[in-house]
Amino acid sequence: MSRGKAGVWFLLCSFVSLQILRGSAAAADGNKNKEFYIVYLGDSHENEDLAAQSHLQLLSSLKGSDNEAKESLVYSYTKSFNAFAAKLSQYEAEELSSLEEVVSVFPNRYHELHTTKSWDFIGFPQTARRNPKMESDIVVALFDTGITPQSESFADKGFGPPPPKWKGSCGHYANFSGCNNKLIGAKYFKLDGTRNPSDILSPVDVQGHGTHTSSTLAGNLVPNANLFGLAGGAARGAVPWARVAMYKVCWVGEGCSDMDLLAAFDAAIHDGVDVISISIGGMMPNYTEDSIAIGAFHAMRRGILTVTSAGNDGPSLASVANHAPWLVTVAASGIDRQFRSKVQLGDGRTLWGVGVNMFDPKEKLYPLVSGADAGANSSKWSASYCMDNSLDRVKVKGKLVYCKFSMPGGDSVVKGSGGIGAIIESLQFLDTARIFMAPSTMVNGTLGEAIDKYIHSTRSPSAVIYRTEEVKIPAPFVASFSSRGPNPGSQHILKPDIAAPGINILASFTPMRSLTGLKGDTQYSKFNLMSGTSMACPHVAGIAAYVKSFHPSWTPAAIKSAIMTTAKPMSRRTNPDGDFAYGAGQLNPTRALNPGLVYDVGEMSYIQFLCSEGYPGSSLRVLLGPDRPVNCSSLVPGVGYDSLNYPTMQLTLRNARERTVGVFVRTVTNVGPARSVYNATVRAPKGVKIAVKPMSLSFTRAMQKRSFKVIVEAEPTLENQVVSGSLAWKGLHRVVRSPIVINGIRFDGEPDRLGMD
Ligand SMILES: *[C@@H]1O[C@H](CO)[C@@H](O)[C@H](O)[C@H]1NC(C)=O
Ligand SMILES: *[C@@H]1O[C@H](CO)[C@@H](O)[C@H](O)[C@H]1NC(C)=O
Ligand SMILES: *[C@@H]1O[C@H](CO)[C@@H](O)[C@H](O)[C@H]1NC(C)=O
Ligand SMILES: *[C@@H]1O[C@H](CO)[C@@H](O)[C@H](O)[C@H]1NC(C)=O
Ligand SMILES: *[C@@H]1O[C@H](CO)[C@@H](O)[C@H](O)[C@H]1NC(C)=O
Ligand SMILES: *[C@@H]1O[C@H](CO)[C@@H](O)[C@H](O)[C@H]1NC(C)=O
Repeated sequence: MSRGKAGVWFLLCSFVSLQILRGSAAAADGNKNKEFYIVYLGDSHENEDLAAQSHLQLLSSLKGSDNEAKESLVYSYTKSFNAFAAKLSQYEAEELSSLEEVVSVFPNRYHELHTTKSWDFIGFPQTARRNPKMESDIVVALFDTGITPQSESFADKGFGPPPPKWKGSCGHYANFSGCNNKLIGAKYFKLDGTRNPSDILSPVDVQGHGTHTSSTLAGNLVPNANLFGLAGGAARGAVPWARVAMYKVCWVGEGCSDMDLLAAFDAAIHDGVDVISISIGGMMPNYTEDSIAIGAFHAMRRGILTVTSAGNDGPSLASVANHAPWLVTVAASGIDRQFRSKVQLGDGRTLWGVGVNMFDPKEKLYPLVSGADAGANSSKWSASYCMDNSLDRVKVKGKLVYCKFSMPGGDSVVKGSGGIGAIIESLQFLDTARIFMAPSTMVNGTLGEAIDKYIHSTRSPSAVIYRTEEVKIPAPFVASFSSRGPNPGSQHILKPDIAAPGINILASFTPMRSLTGLKGDTQYSKFNLMSGTSMACPHVAGIAAYVKSFHPSWTPAAIKSAIMTTAKPMSRRTNPDGDFAYGAGQLNPTRALNPGLVYDVGEMSYIQFLCSEGYPGSSLRVLLGPDRPVNCSSLVPGVGYDSLNYPTMQLTLRNARERTVGVFVRTVTNVGPARSVYNATVRAPKGVKIAVKPMSLSFTRAMQKRSFKVIVEAEPTLENQVVSGSLAWKGLHRVVRSPIVINGIRFDGEPDRLGMD
C-alpha cells in the first residue's frame, strides 16, 4: 500500500532538498505500532454533531473505553462526507473494516506536491472578454503549502464583500496578517499532530509554492513584475476578480497527507467553492483508495470541478498521476522563452548554458577546475558531482568548478567551499531554467565533455559565465519532466487531459524563503520563476473558473469538456510521446468559452464506468455512501468500448494477432446557437480505420442532445506503437475536437515503472 516516492513536486525546480518520507508515517509520539487510519462511513450525516458523536461511539465500542476513544480520534469529517481519522493498531483497523456500517478503512499516506508571459503566449491577453460581476462571485480553492496574504496579488482594492453563498472562514493565525475581500478563506490542516520546526502552524506559506499557484490562478494584475529584471511584465491570474480560499495541507519536508487532504475537501465543499486546484500527486491506481480521487468525486457531486497536476515523473511512460476520469489532469508545456547564459572559455570558445544567473562577472576570466580533480579526502566520485562536503577548499578557492548534476545545489556547495560558481553538466531537464545562488549555468552532455577536455588540455584553464539573457525558442512543447500516459488506472481513458504552461512561470512568491532555498542563498524576491506541472495546473483551474463565470450552470464535466475539445492540437513531431504527453493539446482559454457542444457526464455514469472497469459495487460506497448501495450486476451497464461519455477516446490493442475493434458511444449537448449543424471530420493514422455514425448532427434548440458512434478498427501491426487520429465536429464557427489514441504498448498488471511497492 505504500507509495513510491514522496517529497514535494516542485523539488525539481526549486532546489530544496526535503526530507523524504516513505509509506505511511507512524505516529510521532509514544504510541508505537499505531498509525493513522481514515475510516470511511459513506455519505454525509444530516446532523454534524450526531455524526461526530457516532464516530466516538464506534471507537468506544472498539476500544471498550470512552477515554481511549477520545484519545484515538483525530478528526471527524462531517460536513461534506461522513468519515473520521483515528490512531489505530493494524488489528483495530481490521476489526473496524469488518463492521457493517464501515465502508472502508485505509492508512493515511503522504503525497508529493507536485507566468505573466504564459497567458499572452496561449492567447489570453489582458484585454480578454470578462464578466467581472460574475467573476467576483467565483471562489477558487487551492490545496497547497499556504499563501502570502500581504502579497499585492491578493490585495482587495475594489472588491466588495464575499459572495453570499460563502460559508468559509479565516481566523487569526500565527505569522499571518489575515484575510480580506480578495483572500476570503484560509485554513490549515495538520492532523498528525507532529510539530514541524521548519514550518508554521498557520496558513502562511513558508515554501512559496502555494503563493505561486494561487497568484497564477486568481492573482490581481500586478504591473512591473519581474525577477531581477528578467521575465518582466504584468503578473496576473486567469480570473483576477475571483476570490481565493487557501487550504494548507502540505508541510515542509513532510508532504501532504491523506487525512489533511480529505479534511480540506470536507471543508471546501461545505464552504461553497467553485473550483478546486490541487498541485499534489495522487498515485494510487485504484480510485476507491486515493484520497484525491475520493474527495474530488464528492466535490463533483456538488458541482465543483477539481483540477490536478499530472506529475513530474516524465518522460517515463505510464507515470501520470491523478488520472480518475472526473479529475482534469494537466501536463506542463513550455512557452517561447528560455533563460540562457553565455560561457566563455579561456581559449576563446563560447557556448551557452541554461538557467537563471543574476551575477555580472567581476573579472574577465576565472580559473576553472573539474570537481573530480578538486575532491577532498580523495572523494573523487562525489566531488565530480559537487556533493556536500566533497570539495577541497584549497583546490576550489576563487575558481569556477565544472561538475555533473545529481541534485540541485552544486552551486551552493561550490560557493560554500570558497569557489566562485559552477558549470553543471546535466543530461536531463535542460528545458527548465534553474535559479542559481552563485554564478552558474547548466550545459548538456556534449558541451560538458568539451569543457572537460579543455580543462585537461591546458595548463591553466579558465572561463567566465555571463549574466542570463532571455532568448526566444520554438514552442509549444511538452516539458521533459511532465508525466506521461498511458493511464495506469484504466486502459480506456486517455491521460493527461490537457497541457498548459508550466516551465519558468513567473508568479508571486513568499518573503519567508530565499529564491532557491539553498544554504547561503541571500536572494529574495516578491516574484519567482518556477517550473512543474504544479504551475500548469492553476492555469487550467483558472480557465475553468473563467468558463464558469460565463456559464454558472454548467456541470464540472461540461466545463472540462469545453476546455478539452477547444484545446489547440500539439505536434507529435516535436513531442514524440504524442497524446500521452499533451492529451487534447494546449489550453486555449478564449475558445473554451464557446465550445458549441459538450460531452456531459453525470454522477451515475461514472459509477457505470467503474462497474465496467471491474470495481465491485461494494467498493463504490466510498464514493456514494452506504445509503445508496451499488449492485453492478443489476445496474444498467455503461455503453460502448469505454462506458463513459469522455471527450477523448483511447483504444488499447488487444493482441498482436488480430484486429482490435472498439465502438465508442458518445452524446453531445448543444451549448451553442439553438439551430446548428455539425459535420464530422475524421483523421485516421496508418493501420487504423475510423467511422462515425451519423456523420452529421443537427440541432434545433439549446441543450438538445445528440448521440453518435465512433467505430475504431486497429491492425495488429500497431503492436508496440502509439498512433493518433481525431474526430472533429465542425460547425459554422466552432470545432469540437477529440483526439483518438490507439495504444499498442501493453502494460500488463501493475506498471512497474512507477516504482511502487
Ligand atoms: C512568527 O512569529 C513569531 C512571533 O511573532 C516570531 O517570533 C517569528 O520570528 C515569526 N516567524 C517567522 C518565520 O517570521
Ligand atoms: C574529510 O574528512 C574529514 C575527516 O574524516 C571530515 O571531517 C571532513 O568533513 C571531510 N571533508 C572535507 C571537505 O574535509
Ligand atoms: C548540446 O548543445 C549543443 C549546442 O546547442 C548541440 O550542438 C548538441 O547537439 C547538444 N548535445 C546534446 C546531447 O543534446
Ligand atoms: C479497488 O479497491 C477496492 C477496495 O480495496 C477493491 O474492492 C476493488 O476490487 C479494487 N478495484 C480494482 C479495479 O482494482
Ligand atoms: C445484484 O443483482 C443481481 C442481479 O439482479 C442479483 O442476482 C444479486 O443477488 C445482487 N447482489 C446483491 C449483493 O444484492
Ligand atoms: C455539413 O454538410 C452538409 C452536407 O454536405 C453541408 O450542406 C453543410 O454546409 C455542412 N455544414 C457545415 C457546418 O460544414
